[in-house]
Amino acid sequence: MIWISTKDSIFIRACKGMEVERHPVWFMRQAGRYLPEYGRIKGSRNILEVQKDPEASSEITVLPVRKLGVDAAILYSDIMVPVSASGFGIRIEENIGPVAERQLYSEEQIGGFKDFECESDAPYVIGNIKRTKEKLPDNLPLIGFSAAPFTLMSYLFEGKPSRTFERCRNIMKNDPDLWNGSMSLASELITSYLKSQLKAGVDAIQLFDSWAGFLSDEEYSKNALPYTKKIFASLPDNLVKIHFSSRNSGLLGRFAETGCNVLSVDHATDMRSTYETFGGRLAVQGNLDPDVARVGGNAMEIQTASILDSMDGVNGFIFNLGHGVLKDTNPDSLRTIVKQVKSRES
Ligand code: CP3
Repeated sequence: MIWISTKDSIFIRACKGMEVERHPVWFMRQAGRYLPEYGRIKGSRNILEVQKDPEASSEITVLPVRKLGVDAAILYSDIMVPVSASGFGIRIEENIGPVAERQLYSEEQIGGFKDFECESDAPYVIGNIKRTKEKLPDNLPLIGFSAAPFTLMSYLFEGKPSRTFERCRNIMKNDPDLWNGSMSLASELITSYLKSQLKAGVDAIQLFDSWAGFLSDEEYSKNALPYTKKIFASLPDNLVKIHFSSRNSGLLGRFAETGCNVLSVDHATDMRSTYETFGGRLAVQGNLDPDVARVGGNAMEIQTASILDSMDGVNGFIFNLGHGVLKDTNPDSLRTIVKQVKSRES
């Protein structure tokens, strides 16, 4: 038997721009609520509680591999797990998202970030990774992740999900010491968290800077980019590093400067022109509209085909949605997409 390890997998090869026989496919938020099995495993527990049960978490992580046939698994966790585990009070409210018990007013409130160690503060994440690796086939990579510093800190400064980020932008301008001090602490926490995930066995990492696209070029370049850059630079050179943001067309050039080697783009961005600008230097990932996947049917198949047509024959492309799977998506629709991607050989 030929030994195929995760580094030879189609996902890792595509992320590195190497030759592939077809494009790989996975979905952001594939380990989640659209799957009926997810609800059964989770019961009445919230995500921060299920996290602490590696058997349940690892089962949720591998579900989409078994049910949909995707080419990579993503750790079942949440971006707020290390924040919560370091002692900063966070609730995850259904249909709203992460809510802080108190808004952040001083660096002292996140003092726990300084000595955060995943192995002792959130050992269940390590347990989940190890258990998941035992369950996954040898050639099926596991993606670890974290929020990028801006997206992480936006929840602490705003106290709840925002679409204007007024307080963040105000602090950037009027209290740069608080901004820079907090972002530095967040970057240390994230770096340490990702290194622990790597040590435990993840094969690639994705940084979610979901809300960075709401910043201006100047705000992003000065107040967020340097921190993301530092995180990527402190991780091993040969590691697959994916950068994700949404509403991001105007900042794509900046995201490409972060040191990532895969650029994940949302559905408002044209995949082919992104490839033409960055391909060769970076791999690109995306970008079917999650709402089109939710509606399913013919329109979905046409749009999937159109993305595949536009990326026909290229290396360095990973099929995904432009953002996470929406909860009322039919798993059969995602199965159809996977089949469609897999049936195209390049
Ligand atoms: O992708 C995956 O399947 C892996 C697991 C994962 C979750 N959250 C599980 C989750 C990942 C990668 C995340 C990342 C995450 N979490 C991001 C970045 C990606 C993005 O979508 O932009 C953000 C901004 C969050 C914050 C967050 N956590 C939100 C907005 C929500 C949804 C709130 C709601 O009810 O609509 C959560 C909770 C959450 N994270 C759920 C899941 C499966 C659902 C709640 C639950 O089942 O308890």
